[in-house]
Amino acid sequence: MLRYFTAGESHGEALVAFLSGLPAGLRIDEEFVDRDLWRRQQGYGRGGRMKIETDKAHILSGVHHGITIGSPIAILLENKDWKNWQESLPVAEGDPARHKAVKSPRPGHADLAGALKYNFSEARYVLERASARESAARVAVGALAKLFLRELNMEVLSHVISVGAVSLGEEVPWSEIKKVSEKTEVLLSCADLPAEQRMKEEVDKVLKSGDSLGGVFEVVAHNVPPGLGTYAQWDERLDALLAAAVMSLQAVKAVEIGSGISAASAPGSKVHDEIGYQARDRYTKFSRAHNNAGGIEGGVSNGEEIRVRGYLKPISTLRRPLGSVDFSTREPVKAAYERSDVCVVPAAGVAGESMVALTLARAALEKFGGDSMVETKRNFAGYLDQLKKF
Ligand SMILES: Cc1cc2nc3c(=O)[nH]c(=O)nc-3n(C[C@H](O)[C@H](O)[C@H](O)COP(=O)(O)O)c2cc1C
Repeated sequence: MLRYFTAGESHGEALVAFLSGLPAGLRIDEEFVDRDLWRRQQGYGRGGRMKIETDKAHILSGVHHGITIGSPIAILLENKDWKNWQESLPVAEGDPARHKAVKSPRPGHADLAGALKYNFSEARYVLERASARESAARVAVGALAKLFLRELNMEVLSHVISVGAVSLGEEVPWSEIKKVSEKTEVLLSCADLPAEQRMKEEVDKVLKSGDSLGGVFEVVAHNVPPGLGTYAQWDERLDALLAAAVMSLQAVKAVEIGSGISAASAPGSKVHDEIGYQARDRYTKFSRAHNNAGGIEGGVSNGEEIRVRGYLKPISTLRRPLGSVDFSTREPVKAAYERSDVCVVPAAGVAGESMVALTLARAALEKFGGDSMVETKRNFAGYLDQLKKF
């Protein structure tokens, strides 16, 4: 079974990601992993930290001579900022006078809920782990999941649908999403350049006013065969697994599969994707008039592209902070401020890709199994043959 965990604090020494269950014999392209880590750090509206860090995956175990060996993979991501935090966030007791307390909880962040839960007198330790710095570790293992999926012809990418009030109307084809992901300079990862400029203007407004913005990213999984996931049990449905995976990302507050949100207010005749049958080079010759289902029906992939959207609330650390309460005096004060992003939609999209890739890789391994890539690919080829003969 494919399993993964992460560890590490935002200003601690390092992040560690742990991935277990990949078959042996998968070629690991470290540049590909580092490129995804770089993509997670991009986007207009990020804070100063991105300038001091360029994440690099340091693989500690499970990969030798460029291939997986079937044993657990551990990856270390150094926190370059650690040198500035060694004294205020030491592993040993250290000097309490150097401790950088988070004295008043930020509305919208984990500060208050976390401090109450863990019985902390202020929110430093809460911020350290709740921070989306953690998502870098997910991107590292997500990139390995993508390398696995590639061997089964599948690819996962994302693009930005909206930033604040600026939104794209039309479905963006895969070829355009691919172009967005290949850029060497990232603005807001929107496939429509005039819309991207309007998105930038939205970010400029909040940069000036000390506010923040959310938005929507879409993750697209291309070439997914029909048959991943199942309706047989509630917790094996692919839509449910993807929703949980994407929702688990920091600041994601809603997840949509296909056109799920607008479908709720439209008649069935306008929503459901009519079925045809025609000669085409796909897993089967069954075709669809459109893809409002987002590639999943009954919790099972149906052979169309899987489209999952993550809705992000605005960043909660504000340069013009909202009202809060001082942890020690209980007096009304402004919420704490610490260097922060103001808009993270493109970066969250890259993290969303990782969560979708990890979920699909797990579903694929459940269906096709295999301790080596030779075995997994043989099983996959057998299934594709079955689909062709259907
Ligand atoms: C890529 C990414 C970067 C983020 N950067 C920040 C940030 O700089 N400042 C901040 O307050 N929140 C940031 N967030 C959001 C917080 O981590 C998140 O709101 C917080 O952990 C509370 O969790 P919740 O929003 O899921 O309830 C970021 C989220 C993502 C996905």
